[in-house]
Amino acid sequence: MSNEILSHTERGVTTVTLNRLDRKNSITAAMYGAMADALAAAQADEAVRVVVFQGHETVFSAGNDIGDFLNNPPATMGSPVFRFLRALATFPKPLVAAVCGPAVGVGTTMLFHCDLVYAGDNAAFSTPFVNLGLCPEAASSLLVPQMLGYHRAAEALLLGEPFMAEAALEVGLVNRVLPPTEANAYAQTVAQKLAHKPLGSLMATKRLMKQGQQQRVLDQIVAEGETFGQLLAAPAAKEAFGAFMEKRKPDFSKL
Ligand code: COA
Repeated sequence: MSNEILSHTERGVTTVTLNRLDRKNSITAAMYGAMADALAAAQADEAVRVVVFQGHETVFSAGNDIGDFLNNPPATMGSPVFRFLRALATFPKPLVAAVCGPAVGVGTTMLFHCDLVYAGDNAAFSTPFVNLGLCPEAASSLLVPQMLGYHRAAEALLLGEPFMAEAALEVGLVNRVLPPTEANAYAQTVAQKLAHKPLGSLMATKRLMKQGQQQRVLDQIVAEGETFGQLLAAPAAKEAFGAFMEKRKPDFSKL
């Protein structure tokens, strides 16, 4: 596993750390693969009872690595990003996340699959898919309206503007807001609390809460993936990504 994703297990808790600070923890295909592998290993290991995702106290994740994404677009549902999203959406044990600083794109949408989310007061969540000429992923077109209500979801997904930790707390995306220096440690404390509970009961409870729409979530990931792939090849995405690389504002006026 590359050191851009760190995974270690201690006292029943696997902690997966996004560790690519110089690129704001943006996620490459290799990193998606490493996170999918970490989840598979945690699922299979009877000694693991809880998984924690964390970034750095200044940034959780800038979402897809845009350059890697352009050079290496996810071609099939077997691609690392889809392996990761399926593993995340079907992960049977508790998932806890600690989020500080920007959480862009999948940095936000992956949280809708976590069971408990703790945020630094500097957390800024955003889903700017439209601004990139794309559409939502990770079943967020289903899960964001369910959690936020339609109009707030439309604000998040159509406008793509960041919303801060307190707003995320209000809509129920995060459980608690903490100083950024304390968020990762707090997530560990909660994970330890969970790790001391009976795993069979935790897993049964999670399964029962999720089973009503598990298949719908998986189907939505596939449907979004097909549309995302088409949009990625269209002129608006090319303009948006070109603008990002050239550090200028995109011009969609003719598209
Ligand atoms: N893909 C590739 N590189 C990225 C990246 C991404 N998603 N996000 C940041 N980087 C790179 C920047 O290009 C910059 O590189 P440089 O040092 O060679 O100029 C470096 O990481 C630092 O980023 P910078 O933008 O200077 O940091 P910041 O603290 O001012 O802002 C963010 C942080 C996350 C708000 C900002 O980087 C951002 O908006 N990134 C793009 C997010 C995005 O659109 N993601 C795609 C979602 S699908």
